[in-house]
Amino acid sequence: MAKPRRNQSAKHTTLEQTIRKATRQALHDIGESTPEAAWVGNKVQWPVTCTVGPGLEGAIACESSVGYVNGARGNLIYRGYDVVELCESSTFEEVAFLLLYGDLPTRREFESFNQRLVQYRFLPHTLRMMMSSPLEQMHPMAALRLGTILLRQRLSWRDQDAGEPEESEAIAADEDTVPSEESEQQGESRAEYQFRLWPADKPQNVRKSADNSAGIQTCLRLISGIATLTAAIARIRNEKLPIDPDPSLGYAANLLYMMHGIRPSPEEARILDIALILHADHGMNASTFAAMVVASTMADIYASVTAGIGALSGPLHGGANEAVIEQLQAIGDPSNVKAWVVKTLRNKQKVMGFGHRVYKAYDPRARILGPLAKHLSGHPSIAGMYQTATTLEKEVVAALGRKKAIFPNVDFYSGLVYQALGIPLPMFTPIFAVSRMAGWTARVFEYLKNNRIFRPRAIYTGPMDLAYVPMNQRNETGENT
Ligand SMILES: CC(C)(COP(=O)(O)OP(=O)(O)OC[C@H]1O[C@@H](n2cnc3c(N)ncnc32)[C@H](O)[C@@H]1OP(=O)(O)O)[C@@H](O)C(=O)NCCC(=O)NCCS
Repeated sequence: MAKPRRNQSAKHTTLEQTIRKATRQALHDIGESTPEAAWVGNKVQWPVTCTVGPGLEGAIACESSVGYVNGARGNLIYRGYDVVELCESSTFEEVAFLLLYGDLPTRREFESFNQRLVQYRFLPHTLRMMMSSPLEQMHPMAALRLGTILLRQRLSWRDQDAGEPEESEAIAADEDTVPSEESEQQGESRAEYQFRLWPADKPQNVRKSADNSAGIQTCLRLISGIATLTAAIARIRNEKLPIDPDPSLGYAANLLYMMHGIRPSPEEARILDIALILHADHGMNASTFAAMVVASTMADIYASVTAGIGALSGPLHGGANEAVIEQLQAIGDPSNVKAWVVKTLRNKQKVMGFGHRVYKAYDPRARILGPLAKHLSGHPSIAGMYQTATTLEKEVVAALGRKKAIFPNVDFYSGLVYQALGIPLPMFTPIFAVSRMAGWTARVFEYLKNNRIFRPRAIYTGPMDLAYVPMNQRNETGENT
C-alpha cells in the first residue's frame, strides 16, 4: 500500500519566514559593522592618506553620511542602518525618505512624503511628449534618459537660483597643472596622496537653496516619476499603451501594476520592494559619481541624474544581471556546470554575477536575493535555471572563493528574481535605475550643500613643443614634409 503523502502545506515556507531567516543569517555572518579606518571617535581625522589607482580607484571625493560600503566585511549601510535590517522591516518609500532626509520618518512625515510620491506618479504630459518619439526602436535606457529630461517641465531648483559659478573658481577648475602639487614620479601607475577637506572659511559655490523644499520636491518628482516612465517604456516596447498609476498601491506594487496591467500579489510586491531597497544606494559607484560630477557644475538635477542613467547603462555597471540570465541559459542543465566552469576559467573569461571591485566578501545584497530567488524557484520561468545557478555558485566559490575572494554579487540572483516577477530582460537595468534614483538624488542633494566642482587631472604623456604644419604640407602617410 502506498504511504500517505505528507501534508505539503506544512512544509511550505512563507515569504516572511524566508526573509526573516535570510536577514538573521546575514546579520549573524556579517557581524558588527566597523567604521572607516580614518575615523577617530565619531569624526574623520583629516588629512587622510590614500593610494589612488587608474579610474580614481581608492580616491576620496568627499565626505558623505548617506551610505557606507564595507567591502572587507560585506556590509552595506544606509544612514547608519544595515540594509539587511531595512529589508526585513522597511519599505522602499521609507528608505527613499531615509536617504534623502537622513533619518527615519515619523508617521506624519511619512504620510505626507508618501502622498507627494503618489501625486507625482501621474505624468500624462510627459508621457504624451515621450510617446511622440520612436521609443520601441530605442534601448530602454536611452528611452529612460529621454523621459527623465522630459520630466523637467517646470522650473527646476537651478532656474530659481541666480548662483553662477565664481569666475576665479571656474578658471582654477580648468587647470591641469597646479604648481605646488606637481606629481613626482613613483614608478607605477598609482599615486599616494593626502586628501584634505575644502576649508570651511574658503568661498564656496554653496547652493543656498539646496536645503530648501524646492530642491527636495524635485528629488521626489524624480524618484516617483522614474517608475512611471519605466513602466510606460516596458509597455510601449510591448506594443501596449501606458496605464494610469493606481494611487491605492505602494511604490513597488504600483510599478508592477503599471508594467503588467494586473495588480500584483502582496508577495510579488514585497519581493520587488526588497529588490528596490537593496539597489537604492551603493557608495561612490560610477553612476552616482557621474550624477555628482554633473551636479557640481551647477547644471540642474535632471541633467545630473540623466548622466547617472547614462553611466548605469554600460555593461560594466548595470546590465550584468541580464548577462547572468543569458549565461544560465547557455549553461543549461546543472550537470553541465562543472565542465563549463573549468572551460571558462581556463580561457580566462569572467563568470558573470561574480566578483566585485569593493566586496572581497559575500555581497550582502546577494545574501538576501539568493533566498528570494530560492523562494521563487518553483516559478516555471526560472525553475531549471535556479538549480543551475546554485550549482554554479558552489563550483565558482570552490574554485575562486578562497583563492581570489570571489563570491556572488548583487546581479547573480537579482536577474532570477526579476525574471520570476515577469519583468522582461531588457527592463532589468531600468528597474535598477528606478531604485538608484533615491541614492543619486540623496547624494547630489548632500554634495550641493557644500559644492566644489569636480576636477581631477591627468598626467600628460603626449609630445611638447611641436611646430604647427599647415595642412597643404602634411603628407598622407603621416610624415610631414
Ligand atoms: C565586477 C568586476 C569588474 C570587479 O573587477 P575587479 O575588482 O577589477 O577585479 P579584477 O577584474 O581585477 O579581477 C581580479 C582577479 O579576479 C578574477 N576575477 C574577477 N572577477 C571574476 C569573475 N567574475 N570570474 C572569474 N574571475 C574573476 C580576475 O580574472 C582577476 O584574476 P587575476 O588576478 O588572476 O588576473 C569583475 O569581478 C567582473 O568583471 N565580474 C563579472 C561581471 C559582473 O558580475 N559585474 C557586476 C558587478 S556588481
